[in-house]
Amino acid sequence: MEIIIKEDYDQICEEAVTIIHQTWKKKNDLVLGLPTGRTPLGVYNRLIELNQNQEIDFSRVVAFSLDEYLGLNKDHPQSFAYYMEKNFYRHINIKKENIFRLEGTPKDVDRHCQEYEEKIKSQGGLDVLILGIGRNGHIGFNEPSSSLSSRTRVKTLAEETVEVNSRFFENKDEVPRFCLTMGIGTIMESKMIILLASGEDKSEAVQKSMEGPVTASVPASILQLHPQAKIIIDQKAASRLIRRDYYQWVYRNKERVSDFLERKKTISD
Ligand code: PGA
Repeated sequence: MEIIIKEDYDQICEEAVTIIHQTWKKKNDLVLGLPTGRTPLGVYNRLIELNQNQEIDFSRVVAFSLDEYLGLNKDHPQSFAYYMEKNFYRHINIKKENIFRLEGTPKDVDRHCQEYEEKIKSQGGLDVLILGIGRNGHIGFNEPSSSLSSRTRVKTLAEETVEVNSRFFENKDEVPRFCLTMGIGTIMESKMIILLASGEDKSEAVQKSMEGPVTASVPASILQLHPQAKIIIDQKAASRLIRRDYYQWVYRNKERVSDFLERKKTISD
């Protein structure tokens, strides 16, 4: 797990985009897992710019949505399908057939979830999955107490999540109570995970997830077990981390490690 602390929201987005861009340069048919919410918007905006400047090409990129409200069809303005189309897909040259999403109104929910898992596998698995984090430590819609080995399935939203998400609806009663989400086991199979967090209201969840015990009570804490998890957060989200100075020290020395290893290699050659 690598904890990268940047000054502000713009910088965390820039860092995430740089990593995605570099990964895409090595694999043009990148398989992405993508979330909705407030946090990833800056990443999508910057990727759109890069696409329009022809610095990144999405024609071979495949994208899977992380989650969806159950009961909303893809044209509902609050559905995650609508969000992804409006904020990202319609602005880039991704092919329609390369966009996979969880349906809000599937005929057979269990079967749909099973097929989603199979589709991810048939694309060779996720290369990079971007995640936000809930104030209660959720990732995707895996709320506290979700099995740490869960697969794509139906979940009930935590009351706190309904409350937080009600800002996008007329009132709290309109917020769906159920959703479909990639499971924590599904998430953990992504080759790389980038978790983004910005703002003071995420600082407690970030501290518990990164420095507390690995527990289903804080789903994001599972990322401590992922070999390629990059936790990119701004100063406010990092404000409660006990070892904040250490993470910054490691990050500052990162380039020196590569120089050091390169020099050592040259000497032994
Ligand atoms: P947010 O949501 O990006 O809107 O804060 C994150 C989440 O709930 O996972």
